Amino acid sequence: MLPATTISSLHSTNAYPTPSLSPLSTPSLPSSSSSSSSLSLPPSSPTQRRRLRSSCVFGDTHLRINPKPRGLKVNCSVSSEPLRVMISGAPASGKGTQCELIVQKFGLVHISTGDLLRAEVSSGTEIGNKAKEFMNAGRLVPDEIVTAMVTSRLSREDTKERGWLLDGYPRSFSQAQSLEKLKIRPDVYIVLDVPDEILIDRCIGRRLDPATGKIYHLKSFPPETEEIKARLVIRPDDTEEKVKSRLEIYKKNAEAISSSYLNIMNKINGNRPKEEIFKEIESILLQVPKDTVQTTKSGNAVLESKYQMNQASASQDSWRGIPTRLNNIPHSREIRKYFYNDVLEATRRAINDGRTRLKVEINIPELNPEMDVYRIGTLMELVRVLALSFADDGKRVKVCVQGSMGKGAQAGMPLQLAGTRQILEFMDWGDYGALENFVKIGSVGAKEVDEQDDMFIIVAPQNAVGNCIIDDLKAMTDAAGNRSVILVNPRLKDLPGSSGIMQTMGRDKRLEYVASFENCYFFRLLYYAGTQYPIMGALRMSFPYRHELYKRVDGPSGIEKYVILSTFPERPSIEEINDAFEGKPRNETKKAAGFWGFLSGIL
Ligand code: AP5
Repeated sequence: MLPATTISSLHSTNAYPTPSLSPLSTPSLPSSSSSSSSLSLPPSSPTQRRRLRSSCVFGDTHLRINPKPRGLKVNCSVSSEPLRVMISGAPASGKGTQCELIVQKFGLVHISTGDLLRAEVSSGTEIGNKAKEFMNAGRLVPDEIVTAMVTSRLSREDTKERGWLLDGYPRSFSQAQSLEKLKIRPDVYIVLDVPDEILIDRCIGRRLDPATGKIYHLKSFPPETEEIKARLVIRPDDTEEKVKSRLEIYKKNAEAISSSYLNIMNKINGNRPKEEIFKEIESILLQVPKDTVQTTKSGNAVLESKYQMNQASASQDSWRGIPTRLNNIPHSREIRKYFYNDVLEATRRAINDGRTRLKVEINIPELNPEMDVYRIGTLMELVRVLALSFADDGKRVKVCVQGSMGKGAQAGMPLQLAGTRQILEFMDWGDYGALENFVKIGSVGAKEVDEQDDMFIIVAPQNAVGNCIIDDLKAMTDAAGNRSVILVNPRLKDLPGSSGIMQTMGRDKRLEYVASFENCYFFRLLYYAGTQYPIMGALRMSFPYRHELYKRVDGPSGIEKYVILSTFPERPSIEEINDAFEGKPRNETKKAAGFWGFLSGIL
């Protein structure tokens, strides 16, 4: 069992001021004005270059005339706001059919990219003409067109009042990323699951009523009257061949999209009578965390938060869940992506809030060097996601790995970092020449700070016995001034100096310096002290929200989940964790020793 003092000291060295809950900065949408103003300048980031290119291609569509959803502000799943739902599924899985029912019951604003595009096509607009060839071929319409349409529609006032139901978007990973960048996030992500052979039959039998927009099926939902039957139309993309192509495209993208919404995803069997499917959807929507839904006289439902008095804490407490199966090694792609994204969002918020000395501590099994299952690749991937995303935001990022420390016989580097720099250099940094133009790789020290660098990501800086990285790090942060420095999984526990060689800073100063880095993200699994199995719970903090304490629960048929036990303004002590697990009220006299242990400390 780990001594309680180990845990306590961990806590005390990290007692930073409670991050204040400040409003998220307002994201700016890609707009024609920004695109056109950058035309005379060289693009300064990969995104700007992509935008520049797209503005040239689609420069004269009405997207340029009317794209001013500036000021759209979307917080992450603030539960007191109206309901936000995404529905996804293969072609003909029944999204449109279920949307009709959801809108009737919940009064949400239905935004269907398919319907928006079809309206443009039938009005013969420039967008419609461009989209037509893609749609008729059963291919995806280019992101630039669809994303601008969706974000523009989402910025309208009615969506803020009534909530929204997004149908058919995002349809690719980059579309999902566009929403994430704008912090547009649903409360619930529904996926309708239907076998392929049924989908094809549904498409071939589908008929639309151009007068009412109602969806029929020749066999399953025939039109009510002969008059309706006579005016029904067939969608040009509903031939067997095109359905197959649409289905293939859907499958190619489905996994990447759902990984963005894993924690709020509800997969539903869509091969049942539509009323039965709707009942399940309805019950999910009625259970959106921490909200009650009241049905109004008109039959619409409105959300009423229990937490209206304290919206901030409601949002932080219910923001995201924890992926399960964390003991399965290697972690699945979805799990890794979940964490990369979780870290990225938190770091972005901290930087947007003006914080400059940050640290990320994430201790899932693959990122814990004390476990056999530690994978350097996972750490590198996390760093790459951070670096490329900030580069995409227009920043020049330097990724730094400490080099060999010490001199002569004492030269060497921490085992965990051996080869790291080379791996970083050989990694795939994508198109657009990101590496070297927007992301540079360097070492730790004042000399590494160049004028053009906007921010620094330092990979697992750590002391080794006899060698202390803190002096170099301090020199580097001094040179960086008010530019952001982010430590990813630092291990800066103070270790004895080498053969009594003096360091420029005294021990107290070193510890004080280490403590000046503020956690923008913290995640640690909880086990019984001295064990690594089973996982008992997790502690998570994502800037600027509170520390969330979760308990892992085994449900029926082995399905596990994490339930939130408590939240804390600062990192809880081992006693506070024990009390929460034992269901004791706060501030009760503390126990002398706890029975929970963290995995070994990172600091
Ligand atoms: P879109 O219109 O979104 O097409 P889709 O996703 O292929 O979905 P469908 O509209 O075909 O089917 P659905 O799931 O709504 O099923 P429905 O309820 O109608 O997009 C069309 C095109 O636009 C795309 O191919 C692309 O080119 C472009 N596009 C759209 N969004 C884009 C984006 N984000 N990015 C790029 N391009 C984009 O039901 C189907 C049939 O089944 C009906 O006949 C119905 O009556 C029947 N049915 C429904 N439920 C049941 C049930 N439970 N039992 C039996 N029958 C049922």
